[in-house]
Amino acid sequence: MTGTNRVKLKPGDTIGILGGGQLGRMLAMAAARLGLRCQVFSPDPDSPAFDVVLNATCAEYADVEALELFAGDVDVITYEFENVPSAAAMVLDARRPVLPNRKILETTQDRLAEKDFVTRLGIGTAAYADVTSVASLREALFRIGLPAVLKTRRFGYDGKGQAIIREGDDIAKVWTSLGTKSAILEAFVPFEREISVIAARSADGQVECFDVTENEHRDHILKVSRAPAPIPDDLAEEALHIAGKIATELDYVGVLAVEMFVLANGTGPKVLVNEIAPRVHNSGHWTLDGASVSQFEQHIRAIAGWPLGKPVRHGQVTMTNLIGDEINRYEDWLTVPGATVHIYGKGAPKPGRKMGHVTEVVRPNGK
Ligand SMILES: Nc1ncnc2c1ncn2[C@@H]1O[C@H](COP(=O)(O)OP(=O)(O)O)[C@@H](O)[C@H]1O
Ligand SMILES: [Mg+2]
Repeated sequence: MTGTNRVKLKPGDTIGILGGGQLGRMLAMAAARLGLRCQVFSPDPDSPAFDVVLNATCAEYADVEALELFAGDVDVITYEFENVPSAAAMVLDARRPVLPNRKILETTQDRLAEKDFVTRLGIGTAAYADVTSVASLREALFRIGLPAVLKTRRFGYDGKGQAIIREGDDIAKVWTSLGTKSAILEAFVPFEREISVIAARSADGQVECFDVTENEHRDHILKVSRAPAPIPDDLAEEALHIAGKIATELDYVGVLAVEMFVLANGTGPKVLVNEIAPRVHNSGHWTLDGASVSQFEQHIRAIAGWPLGKPVRHGQVTMTNLIGDEINRYEDWLTVPGATVHIYGKGAPKPGRKMGHVTEVVRPNGK
C-alpha cells in the first residue's frame, strides 16, 4: 500500500502485531504505556503475547479470511519475526499499512539477498557464495577456503540451519545434512567479538541508534549482552554509521538490528555485517531497563508516525537471557540487588528456549 508514510496514530488506536512470542508481548506492553492498543495474530494458542492484549486472532498465516478480519480491526500492522509469509503480507498490505514494508522482508528473509544488498552499499561482510549443489559447494570452498560456514538461505535462527566445514570434513555429507538446495557459504570470520546496533527510523527519516552492544553466544544462542560494547570510539562510530545507512537505504520505518563481527587489529576491515533483523531484537532487551526509551517503544513510535525518543543510557547495562531450565531459578534472580527480572510466560522450558531475561544496570556513580 502506498501512503504508509501517512500513518499517524492517536492514543486509543490499534496496532496489529503478527507473531505472538516474547517480542510481540514486549511490543504490546510498550504500546500500552503510550495509550495504544494492540491486536496479536498468531497461529499458536499458547502465544505469550496473547496474555497482554484484549484482542487476539489465533489463525494460520495462510487463512486469508482471518487476515482480512484482522486487518479490518487495526490501524497499522507490524511484525515481531521476519519470516512472515509473503502471501500473508500481500493480503494485509492491500488493506492496511504494513510497517516495515513488505519489500524489506524479501531482502532480509534471504541471507543471499541480504548480503548482496549490504555489499552494494559498500559495507563489508564475510566472503560468501551462492550454493545450490554439492558441486557448487566444492567450487565455493575452493574460492573461500576453510574453515567456512554453510547456512540455509532461509528460516535459520539461533544457529539452526548451519554447519561449520573444517579441513577433512566429508563435503557431500555436510551438503546432504543441510537438507536444502538453497544455501550460502561464508568464510569463517575469526572475530574478536560480536556486536549489534539497534537502530530506529521514523517515517520522516529520523534515525536514532542505541549504543553499540556486545553479544556473547552460548551454543549459538544469545546468552549475555553488554552495553556499551567495550570497543574504541571510532569502531563504535563505524558500527552506528553502518546501521544508520542500512536503515536509510531500506527506507525503513521501525526498529532493526544489525549484527556485526569485530575483527582483531590488522586483519583487514574492522567491522563486518553478519545479519540484519527487521524487527526488535534480543540484543536490545537491555534498553527496557537500561535506557530512557526502549527498543520496543521506539518501534511503536516509528510505526505510529510519532517522533522517536533520543535514548539516554542509564549506565553500564548487562542483559542475561534465561534459557530453558534456567527460568526455574527466577526466585533467586528476584532478590539480586539491582536486577530487573522479565518472565515471558511461556509454557514448559525446553532446552534452548528463551524463557525470560534479567537486566542489571551499574549507574555512573557506581550505585
Ligand atoms: N561466517 C561466520 N564466521 C564465524 N562465525 C559465524 C559466522 N556466521 C555465523 N557465525 C556464528 O554463528 C552465530 C549465528 O549465526 P547467524 O548468521 O547470526 O544466524 P542466526 O542468528 O540466524 O542463527 C553468529 O552469531 C556467530 O556466532
Ligand atoms: Mg544471528
